[in-house]
Amino acid sequence: MSFSQFFKNVELISELIDHVKILINFQSEIRIWDAGCGMCHSTYMMAILLAESIGMQAYTDKVTIIATDIDELRTFKSNAEIGIYPKSNLTNMPNDLVSKYFEEDNFYYQVKENIRQKVQYKRHDLLTYKSVGSDFDAIICSNVMHHFSPIEQGKVLDMFTSSLKSGGMIFRV
Ligand SMILES: C[S@@+](CC[C@H](N)C(=O)[O-])C[C@H]1O[C@@H](n2cnc3c(N)ncnc32)[C@H](O)[C@@H]1O
Repeated sequence: MSFSQFFKNVELISELIDHVKILINFQSEIRIWDAGCGMCHSTYMMAILLAESIGMQAYTDKVTIIATDIDELRTFKSNAEIGIYPKSNLTNMPNDLVSKYFEEDNFYYQVKENIRQKVQYKRHDLLTYKSVGSDFDAIICSNVMHHFSPIEQGKVLDMFTSSLKSGGMIFRV
């Protein structure tokens, strides 16, 4: 599915990065939740663009990304946790980012450990309306809400809002 490949949601991710770039100067930790991460293409895209933007040292020292999805088998076991993707998934990705942030095999690319180590995975159903944590600086939720009714969307957004740190922001499409 096209929306699940790399270098999608770049506009939304850029907005999130602009937000984090302000916070990084005066916070020792940045907490981000990617809610409904799917195959984690966008999660790693965000992590890579964040590392590019704030530098790998700040990314390593300060950033924690929690990536959640209801679909544990497809998401976590097959791709996300080990960061392995078919080469065809990276066709939109600039070559310099591919060589900098992926290990290459004959048939696939793997996201490098220095990016993956800051991403934690959890199975989570948004419709429980229970958060996976608190004090998030940013919550990103892309291409997920359309699965839900307007009432469910409102409850999920309320849960997101109560999971944010003061000044934290929700990024959704
Ligand atoms: C279209 S994908 C979007 C994936 C990713 N956010 C992106 O933009 O590429 C929608 C994702 O929402 C997840 N999802 C659907 N219902 C959910 C729920 N109740 N709780 C958590 N995730 C859910 C699906 O498993 C799927 O991975």
